[in-house]
Amino acid sequence: MTTRILFVCLGNICRSPAAEGVFRMLAPWARTDSAGTSGWHVGEPPYGPMQAAARARGLDLSDLRARRIWPGDFEHFDLILAMDGATMADTEALRPEGNTTPLRVFTDYAPDRGANHVPDPYYTRDFEGALDLIEACARGLLADLRR
Ligand code: 4NP
Repeated sequence: MTTRILFVCLGNICRSPAAEGVFRMLAPWARTDSAGTSGWHVGEPPYGPMQAAARARGLDLSDLRARRIWPGDFEHFDLILAMDGATMADTEALRPEGNTTPLRVFTDYAPDRGANHVPDPYYTRDFEGALDLIEACARGLLADLRR
């Protein structure tokens, strides 16, 4: 059973902590974490505007802290989900030799949305749109895990 799931984005202060926060509410039995491919915000809580948008939907992200992904994550998780193609490529580059942990783009789980990545609200400022897409992907992920 896939129960250990890591969400990855660039800064680990917007998209991946939001994905973690949404998914842990839908599936409290799962062991979730998130990480960034950059180390720019290590130790910081999620970005204020993202926390505010999440809070308005009943999601508290305030306990989360940014960290950087490292090769050991491939051994510690059953599934790694990247928020976009660049994040996925940078994550794949860290895969230890012989490791087969699935690594996918999160939007694969919401094919009806027609998106191949989660646009970064740090730049777009569309926190609502990002949360809408993340919620759809999280619901699709949960349905996939139950199959
Ligand atoms: P995230 O968004 O990858 O969704 O956490 C970003 C947050 C901060 C930066 C880039 C992306 N930054 O350049 O500081």
